[in-house]
Amino acid sequence: MPIQVEQLGQTFFAVVKGIDAREPTPREDVRSIVDAIDDHGVLLFPGQTLNEEQHMAFSRQFGELEVTYQKGRKRRLRAEFADASNLGADGELLAPNSERAKYNRANQLWHSDASFRAIPSKYSFLYAETVASKDGETEFADERGGWDALDEERKNRAEGMVAGHSLMTSRIKTGFKTFTPEEQESLKPVPQSVVRTHDPKGRKNLYLGSHAGEVYGEDPETGVKFLEELLEFTTQPQFVYCHKWSVGDLVMWDNRRVMHRGRPWDENEPRIMRRTTLVGDGPTVVDGRPINEAEYLRLKLS
Ligand SMILES: [Fe+2]
Repeated sequence: MPIQVEQLGQTFFAVVKGIDAREPTPREDVRSIVDAIDDHGVLLFPGQTLNEEQHMAFSRQFGELEVTYQKGRKRRLRAEFADASNLGADGELLAPNSERAKYNRANQLWHSDASFRAIPSKYSFLYAETVASKDGETEFADERGGWDALDEERKNRAEGMVAGHSLMTSRIKTGFKTFTPEEQESLKPVPQSVVRTHDPKGRKNLYLGSHAGEVYGEDPETGVKFLEELLEFTTQPQFVYCHKWSVGDLVMWDNRRVMHRGRPWDENEPRIMRRTTLVGDGPTVVDGRPINEAEYLRLKLS
């Protein structure tokens, strides 16, 4: 039976039924899912029961998995996973004032996963193993809707703008300070276009988030203020969907056109989630100039 994609309300968030993510997905359904995420940006596959291998295998049907940057640090999960839980490497609850808890809390700031990589990521797949008894939702912001609704003056100013993104920028905001010298070296800001066109239909969107800490060629304060203004614009209620998690939810989103943030919960309760992330198709900036995905792929092939 073909899959069913149902948009929830008037938003960009859709639920996909007819998929058992433990099994290989038929090729035509993979294509339907890619079409659905191009249109909607975020897809929920409810009622899944996934171990780590099945989670990775489902994700790999859509591209290559990223591996984590946290070299030399002890981890609860293998390198293909981002640990979105409040557990430490030993599987015990993290103390809320621990360095690791501060690091994790940056996930509660608006961001796109891995926008701090020169080739930023494509899709993320977040799976809920245990959910908090209340709160702890994830909100998604539609940066395509935000772009479409933006006034011409700010569109003109944002076009061609390049921002520097670093993981350290977001982590410092929540009080995490203990980056190793190796991490500091590998996490220097990378350039990202503030406006992206990755979509096959040529639709544009904003590309923002808490990893962005400067605008190249602009006074630091003015540039950051403009990024904050754009972020505030595209996170207005009409562009935001709040997902309340149930155990077994698998949520897939396109980092190239939506931002997200986790919402706080009582951290004395476990909230156990893991995420795979796919490598993107190319950079958003070449030789200091924004480049859209189709143009980059043409250049790469020529
Ligand atoms: Fe994230």
